[in-house]
Amino acid sequence: MASKLKLITGGTVVTASDTFAADVLIDGARIAALLTPGTGPADAERLDAKGCLVIPGGIDAHTHLDMPFGGTTSVDDFETGTIAAAHGGTTTIIDFAIQTKGTSLKLALDTWHAKAEGKAAIDYGFHMIATDVPPAALSEMADIVGEGVTSFKLFMAYPGVLLLDDQSIFRAMLRAGEIGALICMHAETGLPIDVLVERALAAGKTAPIYHALTRPEVAEATGTERAIALAEMADVPVYIVHLSAQRALERVMEARDRGLHVYAETCPQYLFLSEDDLRGTPDDPFEGAKYVCTPPLRPKHHHEHLWRGLRTYDLQVVSTDHCPFCMKGQKELGRDSFAKIPNGMPGIETRLHLLYEGVREGKLPLNRFVEITSTAPAKIFGLYPQKGTIAVGSDADVVIWDPEKRLTLDKENLHMRVDYAAYPGKTVIGAPRTVLSRGDVVVDQGKFLGQAGRGNFIRRRTFSR
Ligand code: URP
Ligand code: ZN
Ligand code: ZN
Repeated sequence: MASKLKLITGGTVVTASDTFAADVLIDGARIAALLTPGTGPADAERLDAKGCLVIPGGIDAHTHLDMPFGGTTSVDDFETGTIAAAHGGTTTIIDFAIQTKGTSLKLALDTWHAKAEGKAAIDYGFHMIATDVPPAALSEMADIVGEGVTSFKLFMAYPGVLLLDDQSIFRAMLRAGEIGALICMHAETGLPIDVLVERALAAGKTAPIYHALTRPEVAEATGTERAIALAEMADVPVYIVHLSAQRALERVMEARDRGLHVYAETCPQYLFLSEDDLRGTPDDPFEGAKYVCTPPLRPKHHHEHLWRGLRTYDLQVVSTDHCPFCMKGQKELGRDSFAKIPNGMPGIETRLHLLYEGVREGKLPLNRFVEITSTAPAKIFGLYPQKGTIAVGSDADVVIWDPEKRLTLDKENLHMRVDYAAYPGKTVIGAPRTVLSRGDVVVDQGKFLGQAGRGNFIRRRTFSR
C-alpha cells in the first residue's frame, strides 16, 4: 500500500510569526511534524520545496461565486471559482449566502449549500447576507450560527435591494453580540449615492467612470463611521468589508486607537488599480466597465494609505471580493447606463501573486504577507488553527511558493471564467509551485490535479475577541 505520508523537503517555512528551515511531514489530511531538514521518514512521498517558501494556504474571506446580482449571475460557479482559487494558492474561501427579502435565512443557506456541494474543489465556508431582519430573522440568526455560519454581512448601500436601515442594523448587531456572531459591514451611505446616480444619468453621464464619481469617498467614510458608531453603541465587534479609501481607513484607525474591536479588509483592486482604469480607452470608454466594482476604484494616492494600513495592522485582511462578470452579455448590460453594469471584478486567482509584489517591493514583511492572506482571516472568522498556519495538527493546506516564478496575468494564463483580464500584461514574480488542500496535491506546476466536489464545508467557530 502506498504511504499516506508526504514530506515537503528543503523549503523555508513561513508563518505569521516565524521563518525557518524545516521539512513538513503530512499524515493524511493533517500536518504531523515540522522536522529538521533531512530527517523525515524514508517511506514518505517527497515534494521538493528547494528554493521555495512553504506557507499556509490562502484564505479568501470574501468571494461571490454563482451569485445573482444586477440582473445576471457572477460567472464563476463553485467549481470554476475554486479551481481558479487553488491555482492561485488559495485553499479556503468564505462565500456569501444571500437572504431573499421576506424569506428565511435557512432557505438562503440551503440554496448556497446546494450551489457549492459537489462542485467546490477546496474547502469553503459561508457568511450570511441578511437583507431583512424582522424578529423571526433575528431569532433565526442563532440557528445559522449553529450551522457554522458565524458572520453576517449587512449593507448600508443598494436601497430597495440590499440596504438595511440603521435600526435594523442595530438590532442585528445586538443579536450578533448575544450569539457570538461577527457583523461584516458594506459601509457606504447608499441613499444619497442613488440621488447622485439619478442626477448623473439625467445629465447624460452614462459612462463607467460615473460609477466612481457618484460614489464619492465621503460616502464610504461616513458609512464606515456610522457602522463603527452603531457597533460601539451595541458593544459588539465589527468588520468593515472591501475598504477602499483613505478617509474610511482613518475612521477605522481612530476607532482602533480608542480600543474598539474594529477590523477591516481591503482588496487587491484598491491597492493596484485606480479610477483611471474606469475611464476605459480613448477609443472606447466602455472598456472601463471591466473595473466597475463597489466601492469604486479610487484615485491612485489612496494606494499608499492602504499599504500603510496593512503594514501597521489597521487593516487586517486582504480578500478579493471576487465577483466576476464577463464583458459580453453581462457588463454590456450597462452600455447605456453605468448604473446597469453589474458590480464586481475577478480576482480569486491573483490575490497572493499581487500581494507578494508588496513583499518584493518592501511594502510588507514576508510574515505579514502570510498573516494578511491566511492567518488573520482564519483567526477573525473562526477557522484557526485548523486553517491559517503551518503547525502540527493543522489541516495540510500548504502552498509551496516559488519566489522566482514569473506569471503574466493575461487571460490565457489564468483560470477564472471571466472573458477579460483585470491586469493584462502585468508580470508578477512569485507564484505557487505546488498547492495542497488537506494533504492532497490539487495544483502542481500549473496543472490542476484536484477534483470538483472534494472541498468540504467548514463550520466556523463563533467570534472571540
Ligand atoms: O462590486 C462588488 N463589490 N460586488 C459584490 C457585492 C459587494 O458589495 O460585495
Ligand atoms: Zn459589499
Ligand atoms: Zn462582496
